[in-house]
Amino acid sequence: MFTTALLRRDQTADLPHDLFAAINALKQELNAVILAHYYQDSDIQDIADCIGDSLELSRKAANTNADVIVFAGVHFMAETAKILNPNKLVLLPDLDAGCSLADTCPPAAFGEFKAAHPGHLVISYINCSAAIKAMSDIICTSSNAVKIVRQIPEDQPIIFAPDRNLGRYVIQQTGRDMVLWQGSCMVHETFSEKKIVQLKIEHPEAEIIAHPECEEPVLRHATYIGSTSALLKYAQQSSASAFIVATEPGIIHQMQKQTPHKQFIPAPPVNSTCACNECPHMRLNTLEKLYLAMKNRAPEITLPEETRLAALKPMQRMLEMSL
Ligand code: 13P
Ligand code: SF4
Repeated sequence: MFTTALLRRDQTADLPHDLFAAINALKQELNAVILAHYYQDSDIQDIADCIGDSLELSRKAANTNADVIVFAGVHFMAETAKILNPNKLVLLPDLDAGCSLADTCPPAAFGEFKAAHPGHLVISYINCSAAIKAMSDIICTSSNAVKIVRQIPEDQPIIFAPDRNLGRYVIQQTGRDMVLWQGSCMVHETFSEKKIVQLKIEHPEAEIIAHPECEEPVLRHATYIGSTSALLKYAQQSSASAFIVATEPGIIHQMQKQTPHKQFIPAPPVNSTCACNECPHMRLNTLEKLYLAMKNRAPEITLPEETRLAALKPMQRMLEMSL
């Protein structure tokens, strides 16, 4: 479905010396806004107009006056911006920047799952394709999932998709019995409970903070669990001087910027010879590709109008229910 967007030799030859200045100039020329997720490279975070978690970026995309939205994140995030802004040009620096979690929920199989659970309301985590959104009743993010599920009448059965870890966390928080689609994120399931416990012994002053996409054995050790923005806020407000951070380490750039005197230790993956705690999809975007996307006005996100309209309804319900 995606095209490969590696930088070709002839493209790199065209790159300006000062990419920051060139991107800022293109921003003016295109009347563009750059939205970036916390898992992006530091350079991209630094040039963005808005950095946020999925909910904040969706809200920003819904309210922007810009003509062009440059989405420095993964495909489902840029697609969400397009769902909300059919008449704007939405650019993603690398169209291959997908999401392992979204990939665990193919539409045909999900259709069969829905059919096997008649009468269920479908709440889908925003980390899914537009096709899955179009099959859902309400979208949620990691920052509003608990709030949204609490608003559903007690006697209404619920399917929660695609992340089983967030789903299980929401069940624990709300006491609601939900049917879970068994999807997960390869990055958040890479953390080693054993190594985190070992780190905590070496740094007894550190608090463990974790994203709800992590597995239960990791979440059990966390002092605080929340979306990327919630983790950032917690790290700023907590009196602790050190944190073991169980989410993609890109966020540590903002944590360190906000509180330079505190220490942030990335939670280690099971396999210490890889950088598996970095999201390989998010990291496909680079400052160079961001510049080229703006210069070439491509790669562009497009969607069949029928899918977009069907996906828009549950997105709007989410925005209304999370005011
Ligand atoms: P947030 O909504 O917490 O930013 O999470 C997005 C994500 O992709 C986590 O893996
Ligand atoms: Fe998807 Fe996981 Fe990457 Fe988030 S960290 S974008 S859920 S693969």
